[in-house]
Amino acid sequence: SDPRITRIASSIRVIPDFPKPGILFQDITTLLLDIKAFRDTIDLFVERYKEKGISVVAGVEARGFIFGPPIALAIGAKFIPMRKPHKLPGPVISEEYSLEYGTDVMEMHVGAVEPGEKVLVIDDLIATGGTLCAAIKLLERVGAVVVECACVIELPELKGRDRLGDKPLFVLVSPA
Ligand code: PRP
Ligand code: MG
Repeated sequence: SDPRITRIASSIRVIPDFPKPGILFQDITTLLLDIKAFRDTIDLFVERYKEKGISVVAGVEARGFIFGPPIALAIGAKFIPMRKPHKLPGPVISEEYSLEYGTDVMEMHVGAVEPGEKVLVIDDLIATGGTLCAAIKLLERVGAVVVECACVIELPELKGRDRLGDKPLFVLVSPA
């Protein structure tokens, strides 16, 4: 296997019982402290997505804002922030999605992407897949073509991949 993936995996800190008892939190802030691991993370995505005709990288607030912009710059794509509600100042469309307890709303600026543009959606982690589904829905509502979703980490036991249906998902690390 790629030694870069091994280093990325071991740079992610696992914190038990955060933010509440029973949750094993995958903390990517320690990946960001390992300069080589952070660079390798971006490089692995760039190697996969350069020269694929992707003109837009959409990053999901908040942690998708860490990985999305360097990938966008490196592949020559624009960056779109998918934000928590009431943060974007221009005209927006909104999508409600379910969390473990309750619901949240994601918003995107209308006019940020043209119909037919090829989009890559980036986040740090997929758990239930609800967050990425909301991002895909918003982008498809304005006619964008979501080519793939990409995350650093997948929590496979939560079956978020199934929730994405036939939308391709690429992840670097799948903890056992
Ligand atoms: C976390 C993570 C993903 C999402 C995954 O974000 O960064 O965005 O949960 O969960 P899901 O697949 O079950 O939807 P969170 O909502 O905790 O907020 P943050 O990124 O702003 O910290
Ligand atoms: Mg998040």
